This record gives sequence, C-alpha cells and structure tokens, in this order.
Amino acid sequence: MNDLKPVVDSALADFAQARTPAELEDAKARYLGKSGIVTEQLKALGALSPEQKKARGAEINVAKQAIDASLVARRAELAEAQLESRLAAQALDVTLPGRTRGTGGIHPVSRALERIEAIFASLGFEVADGPEIETDWYSFTALNNPDNHPARSMQDTFYVDLKDDEGRWLNLRPHTSPMQIRHAQAHAKKHAGAATMPDVRVIAPGRTFRVDNDATHSPMFHQVEGLWLGEDVSFRDLKAVYLDFMQAFFETSELKLRFRPSYFPFTEPSAEIDLMFETGPLAGRWLEVSGSGQVHPQVVRNMGFDAERVIGFAFGSGIDRLAMLRYGIDDLRLFFDGDLRFLRQFA
Ligand code: PHE
Repeated sequence: MNDLKPVVDSALADFAQARTPAELEDAKARYLGKSGIVTEQLKALGALSPEQKKARGAEINVAKQAIDASLVARRAELAEAQLESRLAAQALDVTLPGRTRGTGGIHPVSRALERIEAIFASLGFEVADGPEIETDWYSFTALNNPDNHPARSMQDTFYVDLKDDEGRWLNLRPHTSPMQIRHAQAHAKKHAGAATMPDVRVIAPGRTFRVDNDATHSPMFHQVEGLWLGEDVSFRDLKAVYLDFMQAFFETSELKLRFRPSYFPFTEPSAEIDLMFETGPLAGRWLEVSGSGQVHPQVVRNMGFDAERVIGFAFGSGIDRLAMLRYGIDDLRLFFDGDLRFLRQFA
C-alpha cells in the first residue's frame, strides 16, 4: 500500500486497546475527528491537481473505510462486553429458596377477648375502653368502697407516684369496675333531658393490676366488666346472659352455672359465678369464673341515675382464666412469658 498503511495499522491497534466505549471514542477522534490524522489528509487534497486528487482521494477512502469498519466492530464488541458484565453483576439465582416473612399469631388472651367481644355484641352489648391508670374515686369511692373500708384490702393495689386533683394517689386499676361508672356517666350525659333513656348495656374488657404473682395470679391480668342497667333488669337477666355467654364461649351447652352468695361493696346482693362442665376433661368440678351482682343503689346514684328507677346487674370476669379453661392451660404465667414454643401453638 502507501503511507496510509501505518495509519490504518495504528488505528486498528488503538481501537483494539480501548477498554471502554469512552476510550474508543477518544481513539476514533485521533483519526477521524475534526483534526484527526485521516481528516487532515482529506483537507490536504485541496492543494493537489485533479488527477493527483482522484488517486489520493481513493487511497484515503480505502484507509478510512478500513478504520470505520474496525471502529464499528470494536463498538459492538465493547457494548457486548458491557452487557455481559452487567448481567453477571446482577445475576439472579432463581433456584434459591424464597425468604419468607414470619407470620405472627394472635395471642390466646387476645383471641379469647375477640370471642368475648363478638359474643356480647351479638347480645346487644357495646364495647367500651377506658384508662388503666385511674383515680381513687373511680377505682374505689364511686364503687361504694370508701376510705378505710375493710373491703379496700380485698385488692392489693399498685399506686402511681402521681396525685389526682383531689390530692389522692393515682392507681393502676385493680379491676375493670371503674368502667361501670365512666360508661354509665357518659351514657347519662348523652341522654340527659330525653324522655326515655335506652338501657346501659356494655362490656369493658382490658388490663387490670394487682400485687399478686403465682401460677394462677399475675400482677397484670385481664378482666371483662359487664353492665346492664335499665328500668326492669333483674338477676334473671344476669343468669340468662351469663349462661348464653358461657355456652357460646365454650361452644357447648353441656355446662352448668352456680351463683354463690358473696360480697362486693358495689353490688347487693352479690354472687360469685361458678361454672361446671358436664363433659370433657374438666367435668364435675366447680370453677370460679366471675364476680357479679345487682348494682348497689349508691353506685347507681354515683353514676348519675335515679336509683329508684334504674336497676341492673354487673359482672367482672377473668379473661385469662376463661382462656386457660378454653385452651386447657394450667399455668397463667405461660401467657406472659413470651415463650415462642407455647405461643406458636396458637399461630
Ligand atoms: N370487680 C370485681 C373484682 O374484680 C368483680 C365484680 C365486678 C363483682 C362486677 C361484681 C360486679 O373482683
């Protein structure tokens, strides 16, 4: 060939050496750019005679075509290599087993609570929620449990290092009964001035606290309060509602209830409710499940009602106890230890 052969060789070598598209484009500029070697040769054609121009032009074109072809080929190679390495970097191993998200379960106590709420909702009861830190008045005084009354010691209460407006220590509610007062007060207020007032029919489930800790008592436990007040609500209604509740909760009619006389300052008469299964592993034993009674007239007045007209019943049942009976658990602490071997059985 001619003097252009080394130019072509050097271009091909430079292209081959380029490792990236950017390096390749730089190399291209050195030959085919505005002042590239080949471009300069083309510019020089202007000074030649027509015949010389024709011959030289043809030579330059051959060289340029060789360089172009090599450039195109190298571009394709580099693009291919880049794709390969991107694919390798983003490799997805579709044979790897998936990472599953652990699914949680509903705690047995929460499960029992949900059942209780559904059952009472079907009996026409509202569900109310209230504070776990209470004033002395709601936890005791309004429930006819005055200062220095011996019944206060029925509950060993936790106190909070804070005082209410009356200068009395706040407490962690030892039972859900304060919710009887709170809900009934709100009900009275809501219907104040109306010609007739609908019955108060409510349950109030939630956490309660006492200074207690053994296999059947925990310092934090759960109760559900029930309250039905109206002009004509009797102990009979309590018996009917509670029997319905127990049969629905345990999904059996093969059980009996016993109302055993007892004492609570806020009910008169008062009764413990005992349950006996007629079949199954617990059959034949009386099991205490609830306190109950007819709401004391003084409590009815404290709620803001006329105790001559309004009468009804209340009960307070241990949700944890009911869950233990339903699931056959003999140690209350299992509910609160957080042991996954236990909890997984309910997931
Ligand atoms: N509050 C009582 C307790 O915790 C239970 C109870 C509630 C009794 C309502 C009668 C009426 O022991």
